[in-house]
Parts: sequence; structure tokens; C-alpha cells
Amino acid sequence: MSDKITVPEHIGIIMDGNGRWAEERGLPRKDGHTRGMINMISLAAAAFDRGAKSVTCYSMSKENLRRSPEEVGHILSLVLEYFEPFLKVFGEKRIAAKFVGSLELLPEEIRASLKRTESILSEFEGLGRTIYVAIAYGSRAEIVRAVNEAVRRGEEVTEEGFLDLLGLPLNLDLVIRTGGESRLSNFFLYQASYAELYFSDKYFPDFGEAELDEALRWFSGRSRRYGLLKKG
Ligand code: IPE
Ligand code: IPE
Ligand code: MG
Repeated sequence: MSDKITVPEHIGIIMDGNGRWAEERGLPRKDGHTRGMINMISLAAAAFDRGAKSVTCYSMSKENLRRSPEEVGHILSLVLEYFEPFLKVFGEKRIAAKFVGSLELLPEEIRASLKRTESILSEFEGLGRTIYVAIAYGSRAEIVRAVNEAVRRGEEVTEEGFLDLLGLPLNLDLVIRTGGESRLSNFFLYQASYAELYFSDKYFPDFGEAELDEALRWFSGRSRRYGLLKKG
């Protein structure tokens, strides 16, 4: 096998294990989420440095909104707390940002902050690099919304046309899930149709650049056939 690294254009990260990371250290779960937020910013930045064009981070599912108000409140408060560092890191790298999910379910203050972030970084749209953050996100909800939009327009859709109706209109090449579970938990089911799936036992706060590079080496060794036959 060659040592050449093929960097996926679009990397998705299911950032799981924050709570267990904290619990194993005798810390409150919220500390795990804070560490997860810090790690999300640095890991996504590292993925762009490696050559990725799009990075999609699953920061909170629609289903996660049913956790205790205290835990949900803390996770959402991180949007406000890390507003500046997020803008600084991605602004310096000239990366645009988009937030995807049932954002109407979020408190107005949070929605306003997400909108402001998108708007400030929108000057980098068109440069080819975007961080997508999935928040209050569920793939089934995203698909149903797109179906309803197609019905409303009264037009039949193609496979590609349907992709364009989704909140994230982009196929995923590699999906990394940390935290030891081997499932997608409602993460971009349509866009991940032909993604390579990489599962790590590390809790998200412990998944750093070395672990990312290991995942990229693993990805480089995959043969993506899309239903065809292997070349050579
Ligand atoms: C992932 O960590 C982040 C969110 C789901 C918001 P968890 O909170 O699911 O952490 P574990 O799986 O309980 O360790
Ligand atoms: C998936 O993690 C959602 C995020 C990482 C944001 P969960 O912890 O919610 O998933 P399940 O419950 O283990 O499937
Ligand atoms: Mg979890």
C-alpha cells in the first residue's frame, strides 16, 4: 500500500463521548461539552490545514434537545461563549460557516448569534472552504423538510436535485465517529450514502490531530468503488 495521503474533500465528525470523558474524570458532564467545543474548533481547523474543503461537525442532535434543560442549556451557552474564538480561527483561515438543523427550535439569542457568525464569515463564501455545524439537527427531519419543499413546488426531483433541497447540499466522503459507538445517530443519511465510515473508541475531547491523521491514513487505503469493479 502506498503512503500517499488522500484527503477527503468533505469530512463529517460525529463528536460523541464528551459526557463520558468528563464522568470518568469525576467532572460534571458540562465540562466534557466545553472541552468538546474547544476540540471541535481546533480539529476542524486541522482538517482544513490538511486540505479538506468542507468539514461538518455534529454538535447537537434534534434528539439531544430532550436531555435535561441544564445539559441542553449548557451546550447551547457554548455557542455564545465560543463566538469570538470560532470567528477568530475560521476568519484567519478565510473559511465560511453555515449552521444546519432545526434552528427554529433554538432560543432567539442563540439563533441570532449563529446568524451573526454566518454573516461575518460570509465574505469567505466562494473561496471554496466552509465549516458546517449541525445543531438541533436530525437527518430525517432534514429529509422530510426537503420532501415537503419539493411537494410545495409541485415538481418531481432528481437525486442531485433532491440533494440541493437539503440543509447540507453536499455529499460526505469520510464520516468519523468518536466515542466507541458504531452508528450514525441520524447524521446526514442522504449525504453519507457513499461515505467511508471510521469509528474510534476515543472520546471526542481526546481525539486530536494525531488521531485525525490516523483516520486520514485509513481513508487513503480505502478503495471507493461506488458499486463498480475495482480498477487494475
Ligand atoms: C456528544 O457527547 C455531544 C452531544 C451529544 C451533545 P455526549 O453528550 O453524547 O457524550 P456521551 O456519549 O454521553 O459520553
Ligand atoms: C450523537 O451522539 C449526536 C452528537 C454527537 C451530537 P448521541 O450520544 O446523541 O448518540 P446516541 O444517543 O449514542 O445514538
Ligand atoms: Mg453520546
